[in-house]
Amino acid sequence: MKPLDHFETCFPLLEDHAHTYLNPDELKNFQSFSGKEVARQLKNLLEKPLAEFTSVNEAYFRARWAELLRLLHPGEDLVLLEIASGDADMIPQAMARTHPKGLYITANMNKALNDSLSRKTESLALKMNIIEDDAVRIADYTGKGTVDVIAFQHAVNDVIQSILCDKAGIDTVHAEWMELLPRMIELVKQESSRNTLAAQVKEPFLELMRALLGTLRSGGYVAMNHYLFQLDLDWGYPPDVFEHMIPMTREWLRELKGCREFTLDGFDSQWWIILQKIESEPSY
Ligand SMILES: C[S@@+](CC[C@H](N)C(=O)[O-])C[C@H]1O[C@@H](n2cnc3c(N)ncnc32)[C@H](O)[C@@H]1O
Repeated sequence: MKPLDHFETCFPLLEDHAHTYLNPDELKNFQSFSGKEVARQLKNLLEKPLAEFTSVNEAYFRARWAELLRLLHPGEDLVLLEIASGDADMIPQAMARTHPKGLYITANMNKALNDSLSRKTESLALKMNIIEDDAVRIADYTGKGTVDVIAFQHAVNDVIQSILCDKAGIDTVHAEWMELLPRMIELVKQESSRNTLAAQVKEPFLELMRALLGTLRSGGYVAMNHYLFQLDLDWGYPPDVFEHMIPMTREWLRELKGCREFTLDGFDSQWWIILQKIESEPSY
């Protein structure tokens, strides 16, 4: 696989990032690793599908999102909407450090994961709003043009899987996500082997994106990232689909009006898409 980032650039910064982005217990865990062990974990994280979950990952990913959020929105008053966060707290953790006066909103359907996210973030000094609904209905919750940044943190695959489940009549709201994962992978595998994944998913995905662009302010950004999990691959996720999630999505997004891709040095196009909402053309 293409590395997520250059090890030589990231390694010298990681200790500082750990101090900035980890809480005291996490930092203690980070400091219990030797330098050689931190280097080993970081190299694996960047160059192989993710198989270990430690404070090294947290320091790296939180710092990455923090860097991006500062670049996209240098002001203090960031309103960020995350899509399909599950109980992953990388972005609220980053935002509590970069934009503590901001507002974090997530649209996340699964009940159990929302409960877990609330517990994980209860001590953060950050205003949070968890919307327990399909993000396609975002207009029912947020005003037009009120959001500065929309983030898909390793969430394109989750949205795609939910669309396929919805079509197959599988409830993803009240279920344990990990228990459903093998069936989701089976659905992706089936559509991909029949070459029908885009036919099934592209239009609902673009419908979601159109709804999201409505809530984004003009000049605001959508940022999507992806990386590989070894577990999904072991459970049969088609490797080509999993690895090329971002390039596949980029192809679909070419049909989306009202935004353009925005390239940023250091955010590899294999693993990141950044879109900027453009002023709509005046109608005469
Ligand atoms: C495994 S969790 C996501 C974890 C997180 N993105 C990560 O990988 O770090 C999957 C979540 O995506 C949510 N989801 C998928 N499609 C969604 C949609 N259209 N609107 C809101 N939530 C969605 C599910 O409800 C579930 O909570």
